[in-house]
Amino acid sequence: MKKILVTGGMGYIGSHTCVELISAGYEPIIVDNLCNSKPEVLNRIEKIAKKRPVFYLNDVRDEEKMDKIFDEHNIDAVIHFAGLKAVGESVKKPDLYFDNNIGSTEVLIKVMKKHGCKNLIFSSSATVYGDPKRVPILEDDPVGATTNPYAETKYRIENMLKSLYGEDNSWNFIILRYFNPIGAHKSGLIGEDPQGIPNNLMPYITQVAVGKLPQLSVFGNDYDTPDGTGVRDYIHVVDLAIGHVLALEKIQHAPGLMVYNLGTGVGTSVLDLVRAFEDANGLKINYKIVERRPGDIATCYASADKAYRELGFKTKYTIVDCCRDSWNWQKNNPHGFDK
Ligand code: NAD
Ligand code: UD1
Repeated sequence: MKKILVTGGMGYIGSHTCVELISAGYEPIIVDNLCNSKPEVLNRIEKIAKKRPVFYLNDVRDEEKMDKIFDEHNIDAVIHFAGLKAVGESVKKPDLYFDNNIGSTEVLIKVMKKHGCKNLIFSSSATVYGDPKRVPILEDDPVGATTNPYAETKYRIENMLKSLYGEDNSWNFIILRYFNPIGAHKSGLIGEDPQGIPNNLMPYITQVAVGKLPQLSVFGNDYDTPDGTGVRDYIHVVDLAIGHVLALEKIQHAPGLMVYNLGTGVGTSVLDLVRAFEDANGLKINYKIVERRPGDIATCYASADKAYRELGFKTKYTIVDCCRDSWNWQKNNPHGFDK
């Protein structure tokens, strides 16, 4: 197994995964329509990995072009990152989310089937667990009580893959449920580059630190958590990227349909993260406590045991590493990938 089609490979997680794939000896072939990423990412991947991946500027929903890509390359497996991920936007434009996320997966599956490529790793999310009844969350815990269209697309795609596997078990699917990816490559050359005002906590913190935003709003301090602020499982994006390399090894040696959480198994509160960021970087983050954000849950963190047992997945970066690398990326690229 060598040639890996990476849909959404120009994005935050995809770009870090391409770097790890190249260093593990794979050949990533990227398909991305750049709806949430920049062409400069390719130069940066090349700079880090010393190899420029083949890149197709293409929408995964364009069946004809996808077919051509599979004609041009002997693709061994696909890692499917392409998708829209902004929860708030998904509430305003649910049809866009269903069309893009589910539509792209349907086209991808169709083209893969036509070309006899039956190995797929899919980017799912901890959001499919909704508000969990218990933590740490196990892969067998209930899913589907989703609270927004984005989460619903992930849940429906998981079901699509499960029923496909039920009909034809020559498919190999690995569903990876990511918890909260943060951090950046240690080179500071690639990282998260949100458009507009960030929705997620870490990019908001780094933009306050760099002076682009005046103050962090902490959404609620009256949750049933040790300090009252929300608790999440923050995982370094390079650890997450390595998880995909391990998943590729698994799919080759033990095929089937498998589901894994990719998290650290540790919960960190909003204020813990702010303090860790301040300590790691010798900076002060201006924040105020405001109302809860509608739809937020108190606590969410993974059981990382199954991924450890079956993939050998063990995170190596700490929260301090995450904070240092996020800041290194932000301060070296105050305008993201735009010069
Ligand atoms: P991202 O937006 O940085 O990357 C996604 C990439 O997909 C972008 O480069 C975008 O241009 C591309 N894309 C979107 N729709 C496309 C289409 N139809 N055709 C071709 N390219 C398309 O997001 P990310 O953070 O790297 O997330 C990658 C995947 O992981 C997504 O599916 C996301 O839902 C999932 N995920 C992300 C997180 C997170 O917090 N970042 C958490 C859980 C799951
Ligand atoms: C978000 C997404 C979720 C996705 C996950 C991982 C929402 C509602 N949910 O969840 O679907 O799977 O990212 O990418 O967007 N916080 C603040 N101030 C801020 C931003 C966040 O206090 O400005 C708090 C939140 O209340 C939460 C924590 O920080 O307690 C983390 O928030 P965020 O980074 O948005 O991730 P999630 O809410 O876990």
